[in-house]
Amino acid sequence: MNGEADLDKDRTDLSGQLGKSVPIIDVGDLAADTGVGGDRSTSEIAAAAAEWGFFQIVNHGISETLVNKVREQAEAFFALPMASKEAVLRTRDNPWGYYNNELTKNRRDKKEVFDYTSGGPDSIYKARNRWPEFDPQFRNVMEDYRDACVRLSLRLLEAFCRGLGLPADFLNTNFHPSHTGFIRLNYYPVKDPLRDRADITHIDEAGLGVHHHTDAGALTVLLQDDVGGLQVHKDGCWHDVPPVRNALVINTGDMMQVWSNDVYHAAIHRVLAMDKKDRFSIPFFYNPAASTVVQPLSTVVSRQKPALYRSIDWSDYRGRRTDGDYADYGAEVQISQYRI
Ligand code: OGA
Ligand code: NI
Repeated sequence: MNGEADLDKDRTDLSGQLGKSVPIIDVGDLAADTGVGGDRSTSEIAAAAAEWGFFQIVNHGISETLVNKVREQAEAFFALPMASKEAVLRTRDNPWGYYNNELTKNRRDKKEVFDYTSGGPDSIYKARNRWPEFDPQFRNVMEDYRDACVRLSLRLLEAFCRGLGLPADFLNTNFHPSHTGFIRLNYYPVKDPLRDRADITHIDEAGLGVHHHTDAGALTVLLQDDVGGLQVHKDGCWHDVPPVRNALVINTGDMMQVWSNDVYHAAIHRVLAMDKKDRFSIPFFYNPAASTVVQPLSTVVSRQKPALYRSIDWSDYRGRRTDGDYADYGAEVQISQYRI
């Protein structure tokens, strides 16, 4: 895995000099909730997911009012005193809540996060969301935004299926009775949150906001602010994913790469460490139901193109990725370990 370790040293293609940039797709033609129509955006989505594993969407139907409320609440939460944030601190048994010491591939990220999922105990950890008490609106706004992301993700999932020549609802059963997706509020401060903490001894320099990684699930819907710093790796260099007003960034996850047998690509991405301005971003990770076993779809596998992966038990995969993020419990699981 030497090439992998050196990825962070690859150069950045500043301002798309190579004539390549992450596509921006107008998805206004994807009919709400049905997956019918939207032929143009479906083919653009399929092409972008194959070539980049990343694209931005506009006219996605999530209202600007809701987006603004989510941003305000996220900023207000991270502005709370550390003691109030640590009142909802994540634990090894319950991954929901606040955290400021996350590892990606065993390296510490310069960020703070708050994670929450669907209502009730979730179906992997059997654990409940932890809600901060500073503002009763926080929970309502976050739940509304999560529900809007779930609806949008289903439309995107349908487009991914149609892009593979399959019926729009082909993968839907893998997200029933309940998906295991979750929202993460990310705060990338200029000042390292652990810098002044005498009780933390293993501190080393957190050189990136998020170290390079792929997202584990099916697809990610990311809301970023206007600061920038997100980069995707393609053809040996890093490309900025620039902030675009009212757009959402979509990227393909590991499970979609496996289902599509490498037609779609789960791209490696990272976030630079902030040095001038604090940054906020809010990804929704759309993940399959707990009992899902993911393997290349028989409809995309052929004699010419046999299955490239062994089957993956989603709950096991997710659990092993979370353990790797939380602390140094060994190397994080990657789909390359399932390659045939
Ligand atoms: C992540 C991630 C990107 C961003 O949280 O997995 O890649 O822009 N975030 O914050
Ligand atoms: Ni990511």
